[in-house]
Amino acid sequence: MLHFEQTFMDFLLEHQERHHRTYHFLILMNSILNAAKRIQYYYLTGALHGNLGMAGSVNVQGEDVMKMDDIANEVVKHYLERSGRVIHAVSEEEENIIPMNVEGGRYFFYYDPMDGTSNVPHNLPVGFLFGIGKRNLDGPEDNHLRAGNEFRAAGMFVIPTGTFTLALRDAGCWRFHIDEMMNYVKPVRMVLPEDRKTWELSFNTANREYYAAGIQEWIRNNEKSFVFRYLGALAGDFHRILRNGGLFMYPAIVNHPVAKKNRPQGKLRLMYEAAVVAFMCCEAGGSAVDESGKSILDIVPEMPHQRTALYLGSKPLVEEIAGILRGGKGPASAPGGCR
Ligand code: F6P
Repeated sequence: MLHFEQTFMDFLLEHQERHHRTYHFLILMNSILNAAKRIQYYYLTGALHGNLGMAGSVNVQGEDVMKMDDIANEVVKHYLERSGRVIHAVSEEEENIIPMNVEGGRYFFYYDPMDGTSNVPHNLPVGFLFGIGKRNLDGPEDNHLRAGNEFRAAGMFVIPTGTFTLALRDAGCWRFHIDEMMNYVKPVRMVLPEDRKTWELSFNTANREYYAAGIQEWIRNNEKSFVFRYLGALAGDFHRILRNGGLFMYPAIVNHPVAKKNRPQGKLRLMYEAAVVAFMCCEAGGSAVDESGKSILDIVPEMPHQRTALYLGSKPLVEEIAGILRGGKGPASAPGGCR
């Protein structure tokens, strides 16, 4: 008996029709899938073609750019432009907002085309993360940078593993796997497990002495209850948390003896890293807060490359941490930090 898995495009088509939506979003998603497959190809063959090294330049974040950063960014831009649906994009790799179809576009696109680049020289998993906002169709568009709670969708590809996870506003978080024909297939709804026995902790433990005192204390009191897993690529680490539950964190660095190594604003980028995974996590029943215990989704970006601390995962753990960070004050936003 032949067996056919449902493809991502069939899944999305059904979703759009069920909700009486236009096909614009489908066209955008098709271009994103094309981009991801092309990045996947360049990454899989990267070692053979000499693409896993440095590009020789420094990006807006002051980090050394790798060849794969440049390749992935060019690939994504190409397909976004071809879709004709994007007003402007924000890329981790570019200092300025990238204008696209400024008049006729419908969506804002925020992306990190190659997340977790310390894994690149080893050909280990990296991510392509993105968040999607929508033009104001009811009135004049002010082009403001969208907060996570204004996203319509957010997703991540884990490359070259071949998984794609997409959260659709108020419609859940769904995981797909790439098949032999390079189609993403077999939607599985992701819901963070309530049973604590699979929960994991994920953070760069080399930094733990530099976290705020309350976070250090929480780690000391709780670490024995969990297993540790840390890949060093947000997409991969969050991929595990989505299935197993637990807590991923990249806290602010506030107690480093070398003052300039402190990162009171956190390390991760709000628009195309933290808000993306926070949106997905909320659609899967979890939540996410920053160093003040505020919901990540409520932070309105003041600039494209703004950084934030991030605590992300199963609601009870994030709520516990948020309570510590708020210093006993009540929730700064909706319970659980979601809409
Ligand atoms: O911001 C990029 C990133 O590589 C994330 O994907 C990852 O979670 C984090 O930085 C890893 O940082 P570190 O190497 O400091 O643990």
